[in-house]
Formats: sequence, C-alpha cells, structure tokens
Amino acid sequence: MAIGVCATALPTMAGTLEVYPLSASNTLVKIIDPEKYLLLPVQESMPDSKIDILIDGQIVKTVNVRLADSKQDYTVPLDLSAYKGKGPVILNVISESDRTHSRNASDFSCWKNLTMSDTFDVTNREKYRPAYHHTPDYGWMNDPNGMFYKDGVWHLYYQYNPYGSKWQNMTWGHSTSTDLVNWKAEPIAIEANGLGSVFSGNCVVDKENTAGFGKDAVIAMYTSAGASQVQSLAHSDDNGKTFHFYNGSPVIANSTEARDPNMFWHEPTRKWVLVLAHALEKEMQIYTSSDLKHWTLESAFGKGYGSQDGVWECPDLFELPVAGTDEKKWVLVCNINPGSPMGGSGTQYFVGDFDGKTFTCDDAPEVSKWMDYGKDHYATVSWSNAPEGRRTVIGWMSNWQYANEVPTMQFRSANTLPREMGLFKGPDGGIYLSSTPSPELKEMRGAKKIYKGGSINSKGKEFAIPELCEIIVDYDATNCGTLEFTLCNEAGEEFVMGIDSKRKEFVMDRTKSGLTDFSADFASVTKAPMHRESAKGKLRIYVDKCSVEAFDSEGRFVMTDLVFPTQPYTKLKISARDGKAKAEKIEVYTLKAK
Ligand code: FRU
Repeated sequence: MAIGVCATALPTMAGTLEVYPLSASNTLVKIIDPEKYLLLPVQESMPDSKIDILIDGQIVKTVNVRLADSKQDYTVPLDLSAYKGKGPVILNVISESDRTHSRNASDFSCWKNLTMSDTFDVTNREKYRPAYHHTPDYGWMNDPNGMFYKDGVWHLYYQYNPYGSKWQNMTWGHSTSTDLVNWKAEPIAIEANGLGSVFSGNCVVDKENTAGFGKDAVIAMYTSAGASQVQSLAHSDDNGKTFHFYNGSPVIANSTEARDPNMFWHEPTRKWVLVLAHALEKEMQIYTSSDLKHWTLESAFGKGYGSQDGVWECPDLFELPVAGTDEKKWVLVCNINPGSPMGGSGTQYFVGDFDGKTFTCDDAPEVSKWMDYGKDHYATVSWSNAPEGRRTVIGWMSNWQYANEVPTMQFRSANTLPREMGLFKGPDGGIYLSSTPSPELKEMRGAKKIYKGGSINSKGKEFAIPELCEIIVDYDATNCGTLEFTLCNEAGEEFVMGIDSKRKEFVMDRTKSGLTDFSADFASVTKAPMHRESAKGKLRIYVDKCSVEAFDSEGRFVMTDLVFPTQPYTKLKISARDGKAKAEKIEVYTLKAK
C-alpha cells in the first residue's frame, strides 16, 4: 500500500479511489488518476468536515463540506482537473465526530458513495427555482458582489459556496448578462487564499490606468476573511473572468471587523473613494486614493444614525438627481443585520452631501429610511460603470434569519430583480430613494390579458393569473379602508397585499402563503410608507416561483417577499374593506421563463 498508515480497513473504490479510515475523526482519500470531478455526498444536517487537498504532500486547497453520514441529500463537485498529471491527489479529511472507533468512521455513507465523473449535472430539480430571477445552478449564494458593466456586458459576482447549499467556503461566483434578464453561469472568479475566504467587495474599471495594471483593467477590492478581516486588491485583464491577487494586499487593515469595500471614481477631486463597513462600530469609513493601492482614511459616518440594532455591512455611495428639481443628492447605502423594522436583515440608506472626503446626512440621526420594506432584500449594491448614468442595483432575495433553512436544496437563494434608483421628494418634504424595475425586464413579457376591474367591494372580484407573471393594477383606494390584492391557489393558500388608504401604507402578509414553518421568523406582515399624497396609483407586481416583488409604478415604495406556495397561485382577488374602491384596469403579462 502506497500510504504508510496503520489503517484498519482499506477498501479500494472504483480502482482509482482508496479510502483510509485513520481515526474516529480522520480519513485519507487517495485518488490515483482523477477525472475532472470528485462528487462528494452531502448531508445538510451534518457538521462540516474539513478537507485539505494535498499534492506532493503540500496543502493546495482547503474546503469545508457537510459530508454525508447516514443519508445523502445531494452531491457537490470537487474540481480536480488542475491536479491531473501531478501524481496522486490526497484528501486529508477531518470530521467532527462523537465516534470512538476509527472502524466506525468508515461507516460514513459518503465513503461508499464517492464517485468520479467528467461531468456534473446541473439540470434543475427544484420546484421553487425562480424562472426569471438570477440564481446559481447549485450551491449557496448570498450578497451580490463586484458588479460592473463593460462593453455591453453586465457582470454579477456573488458570495458563493460551491460545496453545499448553506453558507460556507466563500468565493466570488460569477454570472454575465447582456440584458439583465438572461444570466450565463461563468467559472468561479476569485477563490480563497492564505489571507482567508473571499467576502464581499466591488469592482471598478480603471479607465486611466491609475493602478498600473493597464488601461481599462478591472480592479476588484474585497475582504479577505481569515483570522481577521482585511481588504485585498485583485486585477483582471480578461474583463473579469479571472483575477490576479495583488501582492501588496492587504491594502487596508483595521483592528476590528471591517468589510465589504466599495470604491468609485470621484471626478471633482479626481480621486478614488472607498467606503468600508466598520461593522461592529456601526459606521462607514471613507478612504481616498490616487492609485487604488494606497488609501487614506478621511472620515467616518454613522455613529448614532439610523438603525444601530445590528452590524453595518455592504455600503454603497452614489449621487442622483432629485426628480422634478435641479438638485442632486448623495445616497449612502448601509445594509444592516439584524435591525431592520421588518425583522432580521435589511437595507437602510441616508441622503445628504459628499465633498469627496466626508458624507453629511440631511436628516436627523433618528430618521431611518429603507430601500425595500419586504423581508427579503439585503446586501443591495449598485453596478459600477453602468451606461447612460444609470444607477442599477440588485439585492440578495433572502434574510439572514432563515436563509440557510428555506425549502430548497440543490441551490439556496436568488437575487431580486435588477432595479433603477432615483430620488424624489415625498409629501413630507423628505428626499427618498425610488426603485423601479430595470427597463430590460419588459423584454420578458409574453401574452397579455387586460381585465376591467371596475368598482370593488368587500365581496371582491377574481382574475385568473399565470404562474409566472407581471400584474399592473390601476387602483383608487380613496374611499375604502384597505384595498387588498390577494394571490390565491387551489390549496387555499393566500399571499395578501394591501393599500391602507388612511395610514398611506402598503402591506404584505405571507402568514398563509404556503410553507412557512421551516423558521419561526418566516411568517410575517410588513408595512411600507407609501410616500404618496393620495391613495390612487398603479401597483406593479412580479410573481415568480418563490417570490413576490411589488413596486409602486413610480417607485415610491417597493416590497420583496419570498413565498413557498405548495401549488402555484392561479388567481388574483381584489377586494375592499370599509368602503368601495376602484381597479379600472388590470394588465396581466405572462412572463417568459429563461
Ligand atoms: C453580508 C455579509 C458581508 C460579508 C458576507 C460574507 O451578508 O455578512 O458583510 O462580506 O456576507 O459572506
């Protein structure tokens, strides 16, 4: 036997895989001539096993996988192609175990079910996989990262675990699109190195070659999360497909948790600006640089402002015109977990001025403004270098309260629809962010049906809807208490949206929407200020396999909720409480699946 260990049983698998149980918690796997993938069986309820991959005795990679013990939920592919022809690949596996006998470690069902393959099947197996929202083909996803636009392509990176559908092993997954609707899965762009795993960050296009990596190089800045959180730079000379780690990294090191750097070019001062979440201090630090490598801390904003009930994460800072005025204002985006009024994680923002070094907020510290008032909108940040001055954002459509538990397995988490940001003056004189669906989304529209709703009373009226749809309702709720829009299915499940005309609030209630009991935090009722003078308007609703996003047509409020109905919603019921309402026109578009 090639490995000199005092092994007990030494089963030989498929001729090329040998498994050596060494102790209750330690197993070696020797792969003589690897195919492209080793398929690792996963059991989600198991703790992580740590797998060191050894070539010539050196650790070349470490991953954590919930290796199956008694039951296999799914497999994940460990790509071994880089090690082909480099001698045997050895996996040194440490599993948490209460077993006392090395003999028993060999009982882990994963050893019997290890297989090699040149392919990995990503065909969808999930009832709840969105049809027109971005998702990874398999594995776990959280924050969108590093988004930039260049040469007609929208690049979207994301916090990605390719080795399981729970948070772990953070890398930057990558997808591209030319229309913000159809996404192509690309190879993983940035992987962990000795400084740690790859947390959130962003990318810029260095048009003037300020960093010296070349004109138009794509430069990424992200948090290396190991024993500490430090900021690392990487550059790409193939438009974001692959990145080279900058050896001068870390370029920023803080003594307490700081993460999710977000950089942009500030033309008036001709400097790069970087905003960094000083997570536990609940403030955003602002740095400047001339070359993206050397950064000076200029100021910090946030102490005592807005919600302080959780850690501050994933910042963004941009300028926008205020609709109907000559004014421009700066928006500082601050994702926070927990601490959102909806429960768990959410996206707050501050409106004010920025002089290249310091952000000053227009509002009193106690004012909290939220970009989306649903339960499932987090880590939202914008694309850099977007065309035509657009400020396009995308958010993670989940909530840290239950993201790891939602009833999907092959993949976990989708992103929201892409949205365009604007600013408007609300009836109270405050300046607020507007969110409208990106114009490209109209390309998804298929068959159209127009209903005349007319007068609506408490009995209500029902309209047939397809499973994947966009619904636009022209409503007037002036003469009723609440105008309700309910998505219903054959199983009696209901997802209720309501316009509360007295409070000028938009409400979503998913307490009876389908599966809710996987987490005590899932069943919820959330409320948004409508920022409208009247209770008349247009509501634009997008329904996908496991989500509902409702936009005021002018973007004055938006709410995003996940839903897991056991059968598709097939009807929209519109009814009025405490008075009568009108729903003159109801447009229903069937949306084309990708
Ligand atoms: C936000 C976050 C970030 C961090 C990333 C890690 O959801 O906690 O602060 O960079 O997720 O995956």
